[in-house]
Amino acid sequence: MKRVTASVISGGGFDEQQVYIKRVAEILKSRKAEVPKACVTTYGCQQNVSDSQHLKGLLLEMGYELSDKPEGADFILFNTCAVREHAEDRVWGNVGAMKKYKEKKPSLILAVCGCMVQQKKNADTFLKSYPYVDIIFGTQVGHRLPEFIYRRLSGERRICELTLKNDGITEGVPFYNDGGFKGFVPIMYGCDNFCSYCIVPYVRGRERSRKSAAVISDVKKLADSGVKEIMLLGQNVNSYGKGLDEDINFAKLLRMVNSVPGDFRIRFMTSNPKDCTDELLDSMRDCEKAEHHLHLPFQSGSDSVLKRMNRKYTMSSYLDIIAAARERIPDMTFTSDIIVGFPDESEEDFEKTLELVRKVGFSALFTFIYSKREGTPAATMPDAVTREQKGVRFDRLLRTQEEMAKKVLRGMVGRTVRVLCEEYSNGFVFGKDEHGLNVKFSGKEDLTGNFADVIIKSAGDILTGEMIK
Ligand code: SAH
Ligand code: SF4
Ligand code: F3S
Repeated sequence: MKRVTASVISGGGFDEQQVYIKRVAEILKSRKAEVPKACVTTYGCQQNVSDSQHLKGLLLEMGYELSDKPEGADFILFNTCAVREHAEDRVWGNVGAMKKYKEKKPSLILAVCGCMVQQKKNADTFLKSYPYVDIIFGTQVGHRLPEFIYRRLSGERRICELTLKNDGITEGVPFYNDGGFKGFVPIMYGCDNFCSYCIVPYVRGRERSRKSAAVISDVKKLADSGVKEIMLLGQNVNSYGKGLDEDINFAKLLRMVNSVPGDFRIRFMTSNPKDCTDELLDSMRDCEKAEHHLHLPFQSGSDSVLKRMNRKYTMSSYLDIIAAARERIPDMTFTSDIIVGFPDESEEDFEKTLELVRKVGFSALFTFIYSKREGTPAATMPDAVTREQKGVRFDRLLRTQEEMAKKVLRGMVGRTVRVLCEEYSNGFVFGKDEHGLNVKFSGKEDLTGNFADVIIKSAGDILTGEMIK
């Protein structure tokens, strides 16, 4: 576990929080003999995980100690996700379960933040029906956590701050890398794409890119601390750089990150096919640290569904990208996100999705049944497809993918790959190679967090190999 403090690059409003950090630290020290504990629970995507790392960084600066359990905690925070109904359901229940801790310890501060509360109707429900929640804050004000805690400790009963200013980024917020030898670096925030099913643009606000110097500074800090895998984050990394006062785009940024000294692998998420350029693929080919894997969500194989999703590409243009990528990097693997049962998806539409899955041969898929998100255009589209039909399609998709994934894995037998070793159990080391594939081989525990060259001997659910060095 490494603690990384980002340096202040572009100022932008964090300085005033330093005062609150000091004040909170003083109050906490004066109130309690032992170190106060904070428990942060995170739902949703890597963006949220990264936000939580910054919130944890702030909590540590204020003098809290991090804890995995709510029992005994003095501060409990839920960082929420709104992307599908299921994500929200879990939060209602889990925040509700905190009532008992609050009853036992009235000084406990309970906070809820993130994408779900950024929607006013949800924030209102917390305000009305969850009186034991003290602090509610949205996706663009997390850096003000010290101020919120200070105000609560100073007697303000409840704090609710949901400002979406959309202009600029607050740099200099400390972050705590709890990912061990893996690190996240956000390169942009928000999304301007407004895919018709998606809540993200409404809860995360407009697209804003970080200056390349801020990104590189974080990458350097992580690399210097020994991190072996760096994931560049954004809802649409391919449109990185828009609105910045420098000659930059994602392809160029990737080259800059690649030239940071250190033995680490670069991953990035997420690429939108509509902005996936040959320039980026050239960059991936030329950057030796970039993994040979591209996560390129296509959502549906049907052009008419894609049009109604507002995705701005077609099955054929998607296949062109795959071909262009394979031309440059023949061993490239692909993963994708798919939504099954978009409103009025016909049987023919769904067949097109299966066709695309077969044509590309993805190593893995993240598959979702469409979930209606209030306030998005798709929420008002008529939908004659029944839940049962959607369920049947979902199962068919999974079965098709299972076959395809096996083929991809079988194609790896005999190759030598570079595995980042993640776990050790009973004489076996488990990790991921440069294609994002899971590999297992017999080895020692001290390989964890290091790279190992492994020759692949067989392919089952995962790849099995032998270490060569
Ligand atoms: N920015 C990323 C996706 C972020 S959300 C991109 O454009 O690829 C992650 C995934 O959740 C999406 O790719 C989509 O497959 C799924 N998703 C988003 N909204 C959804 C909804 N309303 N119902 C079901 N799945 C959804
Ligand atoms: Fe949502 Fe589309 Fe933006 Fe991805 S690109 S976050 S799916 S609106
Ligand atoms: Fe969820 Fe927000 Fe990420 S809605 S998927 S946590 S951007």
